[in-house]
Amino acid sequence: MLSKKLANKTIRVGLLGAGTVGSQTARLIVEQSDELAARIGANIELAGVACLHPEEVDAPWIKRDLLTTDTASLCTREDVDIVIELIGGLEPAHTFVKSALCHGKSVVTANKALLAKFGPELYECAESHGVDLYFEAAVAGAIPIVRPLRESLIGDEITQIFGIVNGTTNYILDEMTVRGLDFDSALRAAQEKGYAEADPTGDVEGFDAANKAAILATLAFQMPVSIDDVSVEGISAIDSEDIAAASAEKRVIKLLAAVERHCDGESNSDGGVSVSVYPALVGAEHPLASVHGSFNAVFVKAQAADDLMFYGRGAGGAPTASAVVGDVVSAARNLVRGCAGFGVPMYNKYVPASSEQTRADFVIRCNMEDTSLALCSEVMDVFADHGVAAERLASACEAQYAQTEGDSDCPQCGLGGPGSVRVLVSECSEAAVQAICEDLQKLDVVCGKPLVLRVIK
Ligand code: HSE
Repeated sequence: MLSKKLANKTIRVGLLGAGTVGSQTARLIVEQSDELAARIGANIELAGVACLHPEEVDAPWIKRDLLTTDTASLCTREDVDIVIELIGGLEPAHTFVKSALCHGKSVVTANKALLAKFGPELYECAESHGVDLYFEAAVAGAIPIVRPLRESLIGDEITQIFGIVNGTTNYILDEMTVRGLDFDSALRAAQEKGYAEADPTGDVEGFDAANKAAILATLAFQMPVSIDDVSVEGISAIDSEDIAAASAEKRVIKLLAAVERHCDGESNSDGGVSVSVYPALVGAEHPLASVHGSFNAVFVKAQAADDLMFYGRGAGGAPTASAVVGDVVSAARNLVRGCAGFGVPMYNKYVPASSEQTRADFVIRCNMEDTSLALCSEVMDVFADHGVAAERLASACEAQYAQTEGDSDCPQCGLGGPGSVRVLVSECSEAAVQAICEDLQKLDVVCGKPLVLRVIK
């Protein structure tokens, strides 16, 4: 029995998209309508569901007469209060969302690409029309991270966010680590399980995570950050050797969305912001190291709150729909009270940190035609020439030999021949690492571009 008295109002929702997330969103709204009504204080119902092929919609909870191909009208109809955009991509999603906001509709979206490109414009549009634009599902699916940044942590100073925000790449790296699969087999398994996009390039090369990094940076630092501001490296260069070497050092490789406010070392003043996606070596004791399979997690460091970690499902129909419907309830509650929630403040200017300011420990892996001692010395000389303290790390094979035989002089590794050399540099600037890599590539013995992995302690 629902006890809360309902306002004499029904909130009507226009849903754009009836795919995996759209159909699950409709299901939650229809099947939980009584509970949602009690939580909102008004009834809630679907006013229409727009999609390209109504005949293909396989969702018995959506009444057939609600299905329409006229998406533009659903965004502007008088009887629609909230528009949910779940069609994805930049256009026509941008046009539809803008039109809905301009017609006084609150909007809920899961569209990371849209917000990473047009977020600041749309946040301002929502603000100027006195409506809500909510997007919890756009970053890390079901995990509440957008609202904590917009509300719970708004009184604090965030200094750093490291997020595992792409389930496909986490699944691939985890399968390579835990089950010893090679990259291609792990990617095929991710595709079979439905984690990867139809074209997995956006996942594997880091662009999906980059969209989420831009959104997180805007929320964390109250500044407009776009996808074009994000430096992106994916995981396609990571091989089984890198994974094995990391394991031998009690580290795991994770693709991270990294958002950081840097300090200018000399003046100890604000040194700009870096927003990046890169594969990193994460120490086994770090909370992000235990995020397995396709799960996502976002690790936040704030000045007063200290370390926080948000964990859960980053994709999938029902988990993402949970975040979408949460936003719908928030927007509906505001409508019942005749107000809008707080917008997204962007009073700071985005000032990118320079590559001299971004300092970290790095492991540089160099593929070589011949790993005999003399030629390895040539590699180490490059680090010395740049005045950087560098330590040659044991290969996975050497580390394993040392573990089983108690001796680090693995006879196989001592023979030279093709292989790789891994070097650890501590507290080094990104600028110095770039210069070292350029010089390493000039050596005849070095094959291809060195792989650079930041170390997260
Ligand atoms: N392809 C994305 C992932 C879906 O693997 O996380 C969620 O954005």
